[in-house]
Amino acid sequence: MLKIVVSPDPALNQISEPCDVDDKSLKRLSKQMLKTMYANDGCGLAAPQVGILKRLIVVDCAPVDEDPQPMILLNPEIVEQQGELVLGEEGCLSCPGISVPIERYPWVKVRYQDLEGEEWEVEAEELLGRCLQHEIDHLNGKTLFESASPRVRLKALSDYDEALKAGAKPGETQIGGR
Ligand code: CO
Repeated sequence: MLKIVVSPDPALNQISEPCDVDDKSLKRLSKQMLKTMYANDGCGLAAPQVGILKRLIVVDCAPVDEDPQPMILLNPEIVEQQGELVLGEEGCLSCPGISVPIERYPWVKVRYQDLEGEEWEVEAEELLGRCLQHEIDHLNGKTLFESASPRVRLKALSDYDEALKAGAKPGETQIGGR
């Protein structure tokens, strides 16, 4: 199991490097990331959250009572977005114990590569759309605190302070309550 980096670790505020699709270690890393995500009841995890500054994310936004739908995305980028920003509560394995209202696009198209280097596009809305926007933020050094509006950020930081004092651990608050 990989150790989850918790805010305010500076690794969470770095810009991650593009993945080299010929890098054979990515297969093992992405499997370990999925394992770690499931073990912590998360629905998404970005490589910088395990201290590895590469543009790699894993997500699974299938409803809890359905079969898992793990996705591994190398070098994901939002290539199109539509609609008016929607406010929704998000949690993060790297910011345990809190959830924070964040504005996201209701529809995004994300381009990425798979482990074989093949290029794909996924159109996503609802939980998956929100989750992809959240994880891609991590690759650009943004956590919930940087993604929140200034007023929300202040409250989130003070809530987080209290959560840490109370001993919150990764997995205690999740996007969509997972
Ligand atoms: Co997160």
